[in-house]
This record gives sequence, structure tokens and C-alpha cells, in this order.
Amino acid sequence: MCIIFPMQTYLFPALKYSAVAAALLFMNACLPDQNDDPDSSDPDPKTSEPGAENAATADFGKTKAGESTEIYTLKNKNGLIAKVATYGATLVELHIPDKEGNFVDVLNGFDDVSGYEDDDNQYFGSTTGRVCNRIAKGEFSLDGKEYTLATNNDPNHLHGGGDKALSKQVWKAVPASDAQAVTFSLTSPDGEEGYPGNLSMKVTYTLGDDNELRIDYEATTDKATPVNLTNHAYFNLGGAGSGTVLDHELTLNADNYTPTDDTLIPTGKIEPVEGTPLDFRKAHTIGDRVPDKGASKTDDCKTAPKGYDHNFVLNGKAGEQRLAARLKDPKSGRVMEIYTDQPGIQFYSGNFLKGQTGKGGKTYPFRGAVCLETQHFPDGVNHDNFPNTILKPGETYKTSTVHKFSTE
Ligand code: GLA
Repeated sequence: MCIIFPMQTYLFPALKYSAVAAALLFMNACLPDQNDDPDSSDPDPKTSEPGAENAATADFGKTKAGESTEIYTLKNKNGLIAKVATYGATLVELHIPDKEGNFVDVLNGFDDVSGYEDDDNQYFGSTTGRVCNRIAKGEFSLDGKEYTLATNNDPNHLHGGGDKALSKQVWKAVPASDAQAVTFSLTSPDGEEGYPGNLSMKVTYTLGDDNELRIDYEATTDKATPVNLTNHAYFNLGGAGSGTVLDHELTLNADNYTPTDDTLIPTGKIEPVEGTPLDFRKAHTIGDRVPDKGASKTDDCKTAPKGYDHNFVLNGKAGEQRLAARLKDPKSGRVMEIYTDQPGIQFYSGNFLKGQTGKGGKTYPFRGAVCLETQHFPDGVNHDNFPNTILKPGETYKTSTVHKFSTE
């Protein structure tokens, strides 16, 4: 399975977003390999309009190491607001309306960078990698060489490792020429967190006027290296800090999942969800079948005894955008649909949330938010039957995920 997606499939259907076009023009200028799509030389007039305003920027505080961080505000014409920070290329706030038109921030997060540097931060909204999710015992071999990574989730490697994981670094931001997109870039040097190769990455957030928040990822390397990037946003469509998500209705476009051992490392099997509490092909509330309501009686949930924490194998063709998940909060009527070209999605029901205090003094209880992390399968680097996660020199890693918001 390929992780390299042609530029056309990845972005050009979205040229309706002027901001994406701007980000794309910027990215193309920096790319080693040329995009030969003729449309790419046709700039959207809005991006070159004189006087167009960039996303507003504000101070997000200094890291413990003394680095400055900033937060950017994206707005669309319907009043939706997303805020993204240079620390961890993090999605910090997302304000969306309910069926009556009342806006609320639906993301767990913190008021400034100090919260994100604290142990209470469980990757809230961050860009995770170089390899998100787990690598068994922090070990893999590539081209005959053994690599050892941090085992920061004993006994495994999780979400890129220690202090130099992508979620803990300050990224460089380039706002588009309107207030609807920002591109973050970062180069992770050869050997950082044990990974081979100088890896140059870009992550672009675009808030479209059709109420879609799009995240585009791009990476190149000078040595073969595993790459698996995702965003770790925690959603509560009733409003972050408003209680649990057990009443949220979830649909997943997945007939199969990857069973794991009790350290959440896939066994390598791909098994049907049918007849298990993981069958979300039709909408179920998250609370319907969590382990303390009987699901632990099945093997499928024994490995995640406190709730859902599983990788689902998305139906349809990886490399092509298709519906991955639909989440609805019946009380507020807020609906989020996720579209992606990735082969998998990790559905995690906030099992390790511990009532920590976040933005504006809100608390985030156990099962108080849900993560739907689009990605390649966990520990893919150690399973030949899983989609390929190795990026080679000369290739460009490209993937995108769209979060579409509506009400009903
Ligand atoms: C992922 C993992 C979970 C947990 C969270 C962070 O979603 O699958 O097991 O580690 O990140 O707390």
C-alpha cells in the first residue's frame, strides 16, 4: 500500500478554497519535485488580492526552554473559528454552531503553551509523529539496520517518543494571504528520537467556507524512514469540558479492525467487526457497549479495558478521500464527518483523561472527549501485511484529512 499520493488527488478538488491554493503555491515553491499539473500555475485571484488579511496572530507564551510561540486565528464567512499554535503545530480551539446557531469550542486544550508542556497534556490537538501510535518495544529494522526508539509508553514507543516528538516542538508558521489557512513547517534532523533521515514536514490547516477544516500533511526525507502523521484532537461536540461523550453517536466506515495484544500492539491479524462491540457500521452511541457495560466480556475489548482504543481498517481505497467517521451529539445537533485518504483510523474514547483542568478552567473527565485519529496502522513498520509506512528519498509523503461540520 502506497503512502505517496499524487498532488492532483490530494489537493486539486479543493481549489475552491483560496487559502489552500495559497498554501499550495507556497509548498510547491519549496518542493524538490515539481508538480506538473497545469492547473497549479493558475492562482486563485482571491489569494493575490491586495489588502487581504492574514490570520491574526497572538503570543502563546514562552516554552520552558525560552522559545516564543504564537497562535493563529482562522475564520470562515459563517463565523467558524479555528486557532492553531506553533507549539506542536497544534489545533487549540474550534468554535462551531449547534442547531440553534450557538457557537462553542469543541476541543480539549490549554490556554497557553505552559499547559501543553505539562504532563496533563495528552497530545491534545497536536500533530503527532514522526510515527504516531505505537511501535512495539520501540524497535524496528530497516535496510538491514536495527533502530531503537524511546519506550515512552512502557513497553512501547508512542506518538514519536520523548522531548523531540513533533507534538513538543515549535514549528515555523507561514499564514496564507487570507485569514483561512496557516502552514507549519519543521525539519527533524537525522537521528532525532532515534529515527533515521532528515525529515522535512509541512502541515497546513485550512478552514473552508463550506465549514470544513482540512489538514494537509507533506514530508520528504534524505534516508528511508517510517512516517505516520496524524492530528490528536479531542472532540466533545457538546462543548469541551461539558461532560462525557458516552451519548455521542458514532458511525465508522470500517468492516475490519486490527486486534492487539494487551499492550495495544497489533497481532498482525485483520478481523471483522461484525458481532463485536466494535461494529459501528451503523450509528451507535459510544456508551452503548463500552467495557463496563458488557463489552469486556468479548476478546475485542479486553485489550482496552477502559474503553475504545482501537485501529479500524477503513473501507474503500487508501489514497482516495472517502468518509471515515461520523460523530453526532444528539443534544446540540452538532455533526462532524471525517474524510481521509488514510487506510486507518484510531478510535480512542478518552480512557486516560483524568479530570485535568484546561482552557478557561474547564475540566476534562474520563471519557470526556473522543479522538478519531486518521493514520496508517499502529506498528505498521513491523508488519509486512500492513500498508507501507516507509518514506524513501525522492518520494513525497502526502495525506489529507477533512473535518466537515453541520447540524441536524
Ligand atoms: C492514542 C492512544 C491511546 C493514548 C492516547 C494518548 O490515542 O491510542 O492509547 O495513548 O493516544 O493518551
